[in-house]
Amino acid sequence: MKGKTVKGNWNLRTNKLTFPYVFLICIFFFLAGFFGSTLFSHSQDDGHSLRPRPRPRFLGSTKKETEYNLLTAGVSGDDSITSIPFQVLSWKPRALYFPNFATAEQCKGIVDVAKAGLKPSTLALREGENEENTKGIRTSSGVFVSASEDKTGILDVIEEKIARATMIPRTHGEAFNILRYEIGQRYNSHYDAFNPAEYGPQKSQRMASFLLYLSDVEEGGETMFPYENGSNMDGSYGFEECIGLRVRPRQGDGLLFYSLFPNGTIDPTSLHGSCPVIKGEKWVATKWIRNEEQDD
Ligand SMILES: *[C@@H]1O[C@H](CO)[C@@H](O)[C@H](O)[C@H]1NC(C)=O
Ligand SMILES: *[C@@H]1O[C@H](CO)[C@@H](O)[C@H](O)[C@H]1NC(C)=O
Repeated sequence: MKGKTVKGNWNLRTNKLTFPYVFLICIFFFLAGFFGSTLFSHSQDDGHSLRPRPRPRFLGSTKKETEYNLLTAGVSGDDSITSIPFQVLSWKPRALYFPNFATAEQCKGIVDVAKAGLKPSTLALREGENEENTKGIRTSSGVFVSASEDKTGILDVIEEKIARATMIPRTHGEAFNILRYEIGQRYNSHYDAFNPAEYGPQKSQRMASFLLYLSDVEEGGETMFPYENGSNMDGSYGFEECIGLRVRPRQGDGLLFYSLFPNGTIDPTSLHGSCPVIKGEKWVATKWIRNEEQDD
């Protein structure tokens, strides 16, 4: 009797509450399954990696690995997708533009690090050149800072990201050259690669340059490629005029260009310079990338 009553009550209750109950139970199991599987896949992930894997900060890695059917990477590879958007600016020279490569905070931090050691920039001199007769070619102030010297750790993050964007190992990079151009300051057009005919035999060559703009510039201060697409190469160009492809500095944006062709010879269209700053101040961090490992 008692059992029957209970059963009756139960039946009565379920009849009345079937729909909401089933609905709630469905939601519960759905959520449990969803979070449970995420947790499970994470712990499985962690179990896989026996070595500690430094998590890339601001490297552009997304957490949407599951959207892609990722492969098991090699020992030095990643288990995630890296997304570093870029625009091909030119094929002559090979130049890429990386909007928002660094954050405003990172840029400010780098400028603060550089301010301590700023000195007038120097030039690599060719035969017959001296400090006196090259005055005015490069008027910025600058300082070399390696990623390991930067206690804030920002340059370390940026250097890692540059290595990923170029797929050229960090060991090939010179220390960051951080420059400040004030009003009127400029850098006449030049090559980053050293032509052995002019500079003598080279132990290694600058194959690519990565410029990270650390500030906006109100007016002027563009990076210019006067020979872009082979123009202005008839010998009339005086290395001062601000012509050709011009890249306007914007804080956090990156510019990568290659000074060498794939066959290792110098790309004549990689000639470039910095137009004079007309209004404001220009801060830029340059990473010269060599075709050999650097000793420092
Ligand atoms: C770029 O260069 C090619 C060949 O060097 C030439 O035919 C073309 O007209 C140039 N384009 C522009 C826009 O100058
Ligand atoms: C190297 O490559 C460039 C561009 O493709 C080409 O114009 C040049 O002739 C090549 N030089 C040699 C020495 O192969």
